Order: sequence, then C-alpha cells, then structure tokens
Amino acid sequence: MTEFITLPQIDAATDAVRARIKVLPEVALILGSGLGELADSIEDPTIIPTREIPNWPVSTVPGHKGRLVIGRLEGKMVLALQGRTHYYEGHDISRVGLPIRVMQRLGIKTIIITNASGGLNNDFEAGDLMLITDHLGFLAMAGQNPLIGPNLDEFGPRFPPMSDVYDPKLVRLAEEVGAEENILLRKGTYVWLSGPSFETPAECRFLKMVGADAVGMSTVPEAIVARHGGMSILGIASITNKIDPDGTNKATHEEVLQTGDLIVPRLTRILRGVLRKL
Ligand code: HPA
Repeated sequence: MTEFITLPQIDAATDAVRARIKVLPEVALILGSGLGELADSIEDPTIIPTREIPNWPVSTVPGHKGRLVIGRLEGKMVLALQGRTHYYEGHDISRVGLPIRVMQRLGIKTIIITNASGGLNNDFEAGDLMLITDHLGFLAMAGQNPLIGPNLDEFGPRFPPMSDVYDPKLVRLAEEVGAEENILLRKGTYVWLSGPSFETPAECRFLKMVGADAVGMSTVPEAIVARHGGMSILGIASITNKIDPDGTNKATHEEVLQTGDLIVPRLTRILRGVLRKL
C-alpha cells in the first residue's frame, strides 16, 4: 500500500534543515550520478547527511553520497543535494518528492536538476550535455505519478499544468552561458524509466521512435513535484553513454560514473554561469 507524504512529515524534515543553517538558500541543485563532486565548489558549506533528516528517503546508490551541501556559489546561496533518491531503490513514488517539498518549504523558487543519462539521439556522444526541454514520464503517465494521493493544497493545485515544465527562460540563459564558455549544449526530450535494469535494444528503438533523446532513471518525478509547487526548473542531462543507432546499450554503472567525472568541469562552468545570471 502506497504511503503518501504528509505536510507534518515535510515540515519535520524542513525544520531539521532550517535548524542547521543561518541563511536560507535561494537555488536548489540536484546532482546526478557521478556529478556529486560539483558540491566541492560550494563555499563555506554546511553539510547535512540526509539520514539525519526525519522522513528523508535515504539514497543507497554508489556514487550518491546522501547529503545536503548548503553554501555560497557565485554569490548565490545554494542548497545542493548530493545523492538523490531514485524510485528503483524501493521508495514509494510520493516519498521521492519529499526533498523537493522541503526545498519549497525553505522558500526556494529555482531548481537545477542534473542527471546521468544514455544518449538515444544518434547525433549525441558520450560526454555531451543536454538541456532538457521536455520529458516523457511513462511511469507517471501510467500511475506512478508522485502527485497521486491527497493533493497538498499548500503547494499547488490538484491538476497542475505541465506545458512548460522546463523553464524556457532558464534554457535560454544556459544557452547564453554555453555560447560564452564555448561549451556545446544539446537540447532535447528526456525519458524517465524506473530502471534499475538498463534498456533492451527493442526498448531503445521504441524510445527513439517516440521522440526521446536521452533516457535515465530520475528527474521526472522531481520535476513534476517542483512544477506543482511553482518552481522554475532547469534540467541538464549528462550523456554518460551513447546508445548505438541499432539500440544496443552496453552501459555499466562504472562507465556512468567515469564519464560523469569528465563532464563535471564543463557542467560546473555552465552552472556557475547560470547562477551568475540569475
Ligand atoms: N539508461 C538509463 N539510465 C541511465 C543510462 C542509460 O543508458 N545512463 C545513465 N543513466
């Protein structure tokens, strides 16, 4: 039986975070697989292990540290989640949204969601960065939507629109930074699958056919909850492995982490540039 997160649970988690920080963060950052090192750039960090926060869905994946790093980056107060929680770890889908609800209760209006993904678009190479312009949430479309359950009216409406999930203004801002920094940025549609198994060739061919450019195991549930709560979202997919044109996906988690390491310096420049412009 699914357990839905409640406002008292969200507020208990929020209070635990608030008690440890002096200045409230303005921007949230979710760091995907292999991208956690980015949090090392944050100045004067307050570090909160997520296991010390009540009701937090704990991350168990290697490469995901499971902590909040709160501090200054490019003059902005940021809250970075190093080690997100995935649905495939066995958490109820409603609980996967708890970190986003805590960010919203802290007053954060802008969120940058990063992830590791497989490149379905034949033009993409491993190591590319893709600005997410839209998503396909098969699980959410088929019943695993994090908003299922009693609506939390304090955050947003029962039937929230999802026409502009990824804020076009933030996409433009990131493109400006890409041009200034001479970093190639792809754009495209991200598809969320539960994982943890990688895709079969038939699944990859199907995903290409329906218009997906990158495939991964996160981001969409977070984006749905973020949008429901009125946040502006920038989504950046790190293409950690290329899926062959015939659909063969030979990705391993080690490869995902290794390519993530190569992407971090470029992603850091993009994120710093975006934060400067916000
Ligand atoms: N498929 C799904 N999730 C992923 C992949 C992939 O190829 N690479 C990184 N995360």
